[in-house]
Amino acid sequence: MCGIVGYLGKRNATPIIIEGLKRLEYRGYDSSGIAIIPDKEIKVYKESGRITELERVLPTPKESSSNIGIAHTRWATHGEPSKKNAHPHLSHNGKIAVVHNGIIENYVALRKQLVKEGYEIVSDTDSEILAHLIEYFYKKDGDITIAVQNALKLVEGTFGIAVINQDNPKQIVAARRGSPLILGIGDDEFFVTSDVGATIIHTKQVIYLHDNEIATIDRDGYEIITLMNNKVEAIISEVDWDISAVEKGDYDSFMIKEIFEQPISVENAFRGRLSEKLSTTRLGGLNIPNSELRKVKKIQIVACGTSWHAGLIGKHLIEKLARIPVEVEYASEYRYRNPIIEEDTLVFVISQSGETADTLAALREAQAKGAKVLGITNTVGSTIARESDGGSYIHCGSEIGVASTKAFTSQVTVLTLLAILLGRMHHTSPTDGLRYIKELYNIPDKIKKILDQNDKIEAIAETIKDSTNALYLGRGVNYPVALEGALKLKEISYIHAEGYPAAEMKHGPIALIDESMPVIAIALKDSIYDKIISNLEEVRARNGRIITIATENDDRVKEFSENVIYIPDTESIFQPLLSVIPMQLLAYHVAKKRGLDVDKPRNLAKSVTVE
Ligand code: G6P
Repeated sequence: MCGIVGYLGKRNATPIIIEGLKRLEYRGYDSSGIAIIPDKEIKVYKESGRITELERVLPTPKESSSNIGIAHTRWATHGEPSKKNAHPHLSHNGKIAVVHNGIIENYVALRKQLVKEGYEIVSDTDSEILAHLIEYFYKKDGDITIAVQNALKLVEGTFGIAVINQDNPKQIVAARRGSPLILGIGDDEFFVTSDVGATIIHTKQVIYLHDNEIATIDRDGYEIITLMNNKVEAIISEVDWDISAVEKGDYDSFMIKEIFEQPISVENAFRGRLSEKLSTTRLGGLNIPNSELRKVKKIQIVACGTSWHAGLIGKHLIEKLARIPVEVEYASEYRYRNPIIEEDTLVFVISQSGETADTLAALREAQAKGAKVLGITNTVGSTIARESDGGSYIHCGSEIGVASTKAFTSQVTVLTLLAILLGRMHHTSPTDGLRYIKELYNIPDKIKKILDQNDKIEAIAETIKDSTNALYLGRGVNYPVALEGALKLKEISYIHAEGYPAAEMKHGPIALIDESMPVIAIALKDSIYDKIISNLEEVRARNGRIITIATENDDRVKEFSENVIYIPDTESIFQPLLSVIPMQLLAYHVAKKRGLDVDKPRNLAKSVTVE
């Protein structure tokens, strides 16, 4: 939710920053802007719309040549997406420029005070007041770091900020609380970004700033202090992935690239975590001894969006294999409803980005109540990864498409490993454990077999691309997959879609079914196969158009389906890893056929770092 890039060094900052900003577009893309100091004065260029719009208003390379700059791509919270509300914001005297990611909760009160002091506020944003506040304090003692510190002490809410000051065109001040911010340490140059992906092309040496830390960067180095003025010894980390992870390669979008990466990303999620000898799995990072894990009586899984759907699958698997009750909660609800956490309750938070504000707040709430909270995240060094008491990385590599695909299957893989681990501590026999492990090794190839049907799925997409509604049905462990399939379609094609447990359809959605309503149903060969077939007969009787995701060689489904997508047979616990793949491809092709930008759907952002 909003992306920040800053550069300080010997090279021309502008192209480096614009390139970095484009890599952060997934964090927000309704407007963008850049502040540079080409000569003696700060110059700000902004535009609403995508970064290509900003590029159009930039002056010639010579005029925009500067060794310093900060920039921002926005996802609007306060104030409509417009040029006026785009960042950077300038202070009253035009000498200080600020970019901000987060929300200043007390901005109304702060704005009132500033107006009283004679400051003119020109935008509708909460962020602008930061620029004026910093100027206010800077005028008092002429130290920009102290001015930032004093300003931020007054702020309630969250921030990742970068500040430049035309009195010192060789210095950037950056600070964070609740919004990610990273310093990239290059050769005689420095970067400030919301995500390492923006600067990985230039350096792999990074410092993850912690909450309430302020970094002052100049050409000779950097110094980090806290809001309370303590000095911080920063730790430099090495990023262990490379530029190919943030490039599309031969694909036309990140989403399709990421869908096709799933045979590898799923394997990466289980690699080194299977023990055939003990017929179980191991998740070293959980940071909790098996003896303690065995005593867990209840599990809560807390997440948002697609990660929440993965959590629902986790519930199904853990309850099935380990017979431990699992509650799955939306983080946004959990944090405000005073959840009941008993002594032997273990809490898991799931977050691809590791930065989702509600999930982070839920983690903190559970910890405040004394619970052990484990994180299932993708992003190394993210706030959730750092603040949780242990956990497991999903290792799916950088996910850039706003609609989550490979992160979902990797989350589900890790949750399946967890279910097997807990299952083997309780009810799962060694024979079953070993069978699961052996089958897990086959899953990447089975995913490949589904991806090979891409052309067929594209042809099916053609038949539903003009629909206005769609219904997704599944039962048991495939019900959350139906929810995920519906979410994918909504997110990127803007077709209204609902996921439903197939039998529940009779209690409402059946009223919507007619010849124009595509019904995408997961009907796999398992213990409830006959039940779902009956549900689909009910749809057919009302002229619904059924697209069935079925198990290979199942001819029966052809009788009532307009189209069938066959997927390989597998153990029921692994079905979601396969059944979701056609759903992802279908949503992708429908959106493409509707001429939409699948990587950057309207109004959405990849990482929601505001409430
Ligand atoms: C946003 C994204 C979704 C994602 C959700 C949770 O809504 O658009 O794709 O599932 O946030 O994100 P997280 O990073 O916590 O998994």
